[in-house]
Amino acid sequence: MGLLRIQNLMTNELAKRTFLSRPPEPPFEFLLNDPTDSIFVGITKLFGVPFTWSFASLTNPHISVVGITGSGKSFFVKTFLTRASYIWNTNAIIIDWAGEYISWVKQSGGRVISFAKGDYMNIMDLSGMKPIDRAKQIMNSLDILTDISEYPEQRRLTAEAIEQAYVNLGFNIAAAPPPEKESPTLKEVVSLLEEKQTEGTYAYPAELENAIYRLRQFSRPGEDYFANKSTIDIGKLTTSGLVDLDLSSLPDERFRALAALFILQTLKEKMRMESWSSKAGLKTIVTLDEAWKVASDERSDAVTIIREGRKYSFGLIVASQNPTDINEAIFSNVGTTVMLRIKFEKFMQYLQGSLNFSDFMKSEIGKLGVGQAAVDMSFNTSVRFPNVFILEHIVGELPLDTYTITMMEILQPEEALDPNIRKEYVFDKITLNSKLVGNGLNSGVVLSLFNSMGEHNRVIEIKSLVDLMAKQNVGRDTVVAFLRDIGLSDTMITRIFTYASVQ
Ligand SMILES: Nc1ncnc2c1ncn2[C@@H]1O[C@H](COP(=O)(O)OP(=O)(O)OP(=O)(O)O)[C@@H](O)[C@H]1O
Ligand SMILES: [Mg+2]
Repeated sequence: MGLLRIQNLMTNELAKRTFLSRPPEPPFEFLLNDPTDSIFVGITKLFGVPFTWSFASLTNPHISVVGITGSGKSFFVKTFLTRASYIWNTNAIIIDWAGEYISWVKQSGGRVISFAKGDYMNIMDLSGMKPIDRAKQIMNSLDILTDISEYPEQRRLTAEAIEQAYVNLGFNIAAAPPPEKESPTLKEVVSLLEEKQTEGTYAYPAELENAIYRLRQFSRPGEDYFANKSTIDIGKLTTSGLVDLDLSSLPDERFRALAALFILQTLKEKMRMESWSSKAGLKTIVTLDEAWKVASDERSDAVTIIREGRKYSFGLIVASQNPTDINEAIFSNVGTTVMLRIKFEKFMQYLQGSLNFSDFMKSEIGKLGVGQAAVDMSFNTSVRFPNVFILEHIVGELPLDTYTITMMEILQPEEALDPNIRKEYVFDKITLNSKLVGNGLNSGVVLSLFNSMGEHNRVIEIKSLVDLMAKQNVGRDTVVAFLRDIGLSDTMITRIFTYASVQ
């Protein structure tokens, strides 16, 4: 054993000693809270204590979730949000980068907001804020997403034009806006700059040109999601139950990040406007899943929510595959960190350095399987036991992930509009699995079907499903038995076979 190793042991001495004299799990009174006022997460590995999460004794209600792809981050988030809604009637807003929560939110009776054609979110909307503050926030987003801060002249021109656009519509930029008064859009800001260009008297025409160019990226027809009158009212989101803001159909990362930053800014303002509530539990939880650009920049309002959330009963959950993508200010301030399976040594070392757990715990974390977790909690009083403990697994909440078989490609146009004709069949995994196996498909085929569906957000067109079965040499009788079992009529089954490419 080298000298360094001995020194390490010495500096870890306190942790080791508590580890040797006490079990490496917090005492049960820290894990087991009143079940009507806390959220059940799972059973601890060592002593089998049901861990019920409450933030009463924690520094704050915020949670970070880290782990490799497929380790169970989103599964944990879904479970947590569902139970928070049962127990505290908590509202949840998911900023859904990849659209991976859509089917679950629909299943749970929540609202999905996607940016389809014709959906807009005007980033100049005030939701009660003073125009001058909104203008600052827009500039803040541009600072995070572009290099405009390196060009002070362009930055000044842009900020000025934004304020001018409000003034031109009769807003007092330093006062709370009259309710219902419609805000200008980025298009008007671009027009103001263009007018200046036409006048031709501005001393730095190149700067002006570049400032216009930057804003045009967000206001071109077809990509003007944030430069039109809103069709989406995000002001109401903090009180709308479960809401998924699906950003996956936006053209690229910059658009997704701009949407996420704007949403966080608005939520933060809403949070501050709502009065303090003595009600138990959390009023609202905002989830950022894989939104690295938004979680990694310290100027992002994710950081503000982390700092101020507690007093407003407002929680933030940040999930990421890469813990170093989560800003220090967030990572070191969350009250709870859920560590799922971690693969990279560099991430493991980062976590160990930040959370200060033992090498024994490190090796335990290295062995975690899907859905198993190590949890770190930072208590608001000093405690004499290790903060990190292992959960045997996170116990999930039904409905689990669902699989959807759609009929759209085999229906006639008039059938597609007929409310009496079923367009899709939705199953949880266990039910679908038992229907496949029960009708005689072998487990290898079933596995490959689940894999293919998994690659497409667990949605499959019936024709493709039958094609996949045929390719795997599943007999026609077996396919027919399965289709009847899930509820299709013989007429529809015959039609599927005429349409399917493999007979
Ligand atoms: N605790 C659990 N119990 C049962 N199944 C689980 C559990 N955790 C995860 N799973 C299953 O494992 C799969 C992957 O989980 P999940 O989608 O949550 O991973 P993820 O960490 O969010 O991955 P990604 O980074 O790719 O989004 C899912 O099918 C999920 O149902
Ligand atoms: Mg996920």
